[in-house]
Amino acid sequence: MRFLQSFLDDLRSRFTLSDIVARKVTWDARKSNPGRGDYWAPCPFHQEKTASFHVDDRKGFYHCFGCQASGDLFKFVMETDNLSFTETVERLAEEAGMDLPARDESLRAAQAREQRDRLGDAMDEAVRFYRAMLNGAAGQGARAYIERRGLAPETVTRFELGYAPEGGALARHLEAKGLVAEGVEAGLLIIPDEDRGRGRAPFDRFRDRLMFPIRDQRGRAIAFGGRALSANAQAKYLNSPETPLFSKGRTLFNVREGRTAAGKTGAVIVAEGYMDVIALVAAGFEHAVAPLGTAVTEEQLALLWRMADEPVIALDGDTAGLRAANRLVDLALPHLAPGKSLRFCLMPQGRDPDDLIRAEGPAAMAAALENAVPLVEMLWRREVAAGPLDTPERRAGFDQRLRAALSRIADVSVRRHYAAALKDRRAAQFQPLQRGPGVGPGVGPGAGSKPGGFGWAARGRFFGRGQGRGGAGPGYAPGPSPEALARREAFGRDSTTRAAAREAAILCSVWECADLLGDAAAQIEDMAITSEALQDLHAAALNRVVGIDGPVDESRFAEVAQQAGARGLSFLGRLSGSMVRLRRPSEAECCQIVLDALAHHHAELAREAEHPRHASWQAEGMAEPAAEIDLDSGEMLDENRQADFAARYGRDTAQLRAVLEERDRRTERTGESDAGEQAAEEWRRLLEELDLPPEKE
Ligand code: UTP
Ligand code: MN
Repeated sequence: MRFLQSFLDDLRSRFTLSDIVARKVTWDARKSNPGRGDYWAPCPFHQEKTASFHVDDRKGFYHCFGCQASGDLFKFVMETDNLSFTETVERLAEEAGMDLPARDESLRAAQAREQRDRLGDAMDEAVRFYRAMLNGAAGQGARAYIERRGLAPETVTRFELGYAPEGGALARHLEAKGLVAEGVEAGLLIIPDEDRGRGRAPFDRFRDRLMFPIRDQRGRAIAFGGRALSANAQAKYLNSPETPLFSKGRTLFNVREGRTAAGKTGAVIVAEGYMDVIALVAAGFEHAVAPLGTAVTEEQLALLWRMADEPVIALDGDTAGLRAANRLVDLALPHLAPGKSLRFCLMPQGRDPDDLIRAEGPAAMAAALENAVPLVEMLWRREVAAGPLDTPERRAGFDQRLRAALSRIADVSVRRHYAAALKDRRAAQFQPLQRGPGVGPGVGPGAGSKPGGFGWAARGRFFGRGQGRGGAGPGYAPGPSPEALARREAFGRDSTTRAAAREAAILCSVWECADLLGDAAAQIEDMAITSEALQDLHAAALNRVVGIDGPVDESRFAEVAQQAGARGLSFLGRLSGSMVRLRRPSEAECCQIVLDALAHHHAELAREAEHPRHASWQAEGMAEPAAEIDLDSGEMLDENRQADFAARYGRDTAQLRAVLEERDRRTERTGESDAGEQAAEEWRRLLEELDLPPEKE
């Protein structure tokens, strides 16, 4: 433990060194001179017969001319009683009846307090001086300004507004009070750099400015803000620099009164500037505070949360204000806790609270406060506004940003609720996009409101509808478009095989989700089954839908699915797979998926029946010509086969390529690509992440 020098000096003064030493030695009466505080004795620190140990009471020191031991009162007790310095001080303090300084009061803290007290004197002096100046002859311009801004005399008094005149008036004033050094340290006066240490007089930091004293939580003046009165001043507002008294990121303007008022109302308003706070308070919003010329810091945020659970941020209605608000969103996320959040009062364009109150009165301000939006909404709006969300990649980027924001919330419970709130907003946001014009009414609702719903986003397109949507198509398609699938997976098979694959896939899906498909039973019954092999499965699936359990070998479904081809299964089975994997959709959703599938199936059958081309290929028992084409590049594989193709079908390969290219372009336009799959994958991962483990403890 360290002790203040003043305490040690005080303690030492309670003792006479010779009294303490006399407890260990016998004075040499002949050599000593008590009248002069001059004592001699044989040395207690080494063996001797002569008296070479000397104590000087007036100096408070001892010295042995034999062994060279020397020291003061404390050292003597330490050495002769074998105590530490602290123990020595404690023992002597007890003997003297002195209270020890409190344990937690470190030397540094006490010194800092001593310094603050001195600087505080200079600040108090300045507050008085500036106020006097405002009321005096020099303050005429400032008084006119105050009047122009509509500040009532009570307000001026309450905030102790003052005026810093031109010239070195404050410097002279502090000089007369013997507070120049303190004035410099408190940031009121400045010593010109080149003259530092050469005795040149310091000058006033604030000149020709309206002065706002800044007081700390205990009401002590710690700094000033000064507003320029002249239009050509360098900065509109000048604030005190960081000083031993003032750390601008740690306190707030009007913190003391604001806190008291917040205690009563349970609310606190955070404005951007001094004048806003003053206008708010004057209008009856006494629970207003502001940062001090900088962005709100973590410490200020913590301070605000000690004042109220949900501070309302009322920043200026300009881009700078919005930027500041968004910085606050980021600052707050890691510190959100149950019940602790922020609200954002979005001021009308270009206005600050002061402007609003002056233009429209306190009621308008109250209304703006009433409409303050919660932090989660602010975050959401920011991310939505960050850029268009019209491609899978952009939406994936958007999801990434949401996840990043979520991951910054430390509190598990708050994070879980944010995740849920963002999911809801996200679903609402994308729902309209999920309903393509090609999809009939009733398809969309509900699909987007459930997380699993994103998996169904592509269903309209999946079943061959809604192709005209262009770039605005759903971004969360779980798989490739029907064209892409058909091209990749069904080409090379004849239409009979493709129809069978569709039928198998639909039946597998129906079997899988039979308990949800009651409402689609009639349509399922009407399903056209072209493949003889699938007739019994159709019956079995239908029975299951209507709740009749027949003798069915379950493995038949898997077998048939396999026979129809893994490709066929991936066509529709992917859908039923994700139904199960993601989250079971509602009955309505499920029915709609199957109805869409059936409609597509029937449309395909009709189209194929009409198409002589297909028929002729089938009749010839040949694969479709597209089998000859490299499906990735669209190039014919072999020049000889190109000629063969032309001869057989009377069609030029260039024509075929044009058809394929057109198909690719269409694919591109609908935003279809593997990125769709990636987006779906991302979303699945998001869902996993969002299914947070139960809160610990
Ligand atoms: P504003 O420019 O919004 O000022 O700065 P204001 O409060 O509306 O002031 P009036 O109405 O023009 O008098 C907001 C806050 O930003 C800091 C000050 O703390 C100010 O109150 N600021 C602004 C500075 O520190 N320096 C500046 O030059 C300007
Ligand atoms: Mn303003």
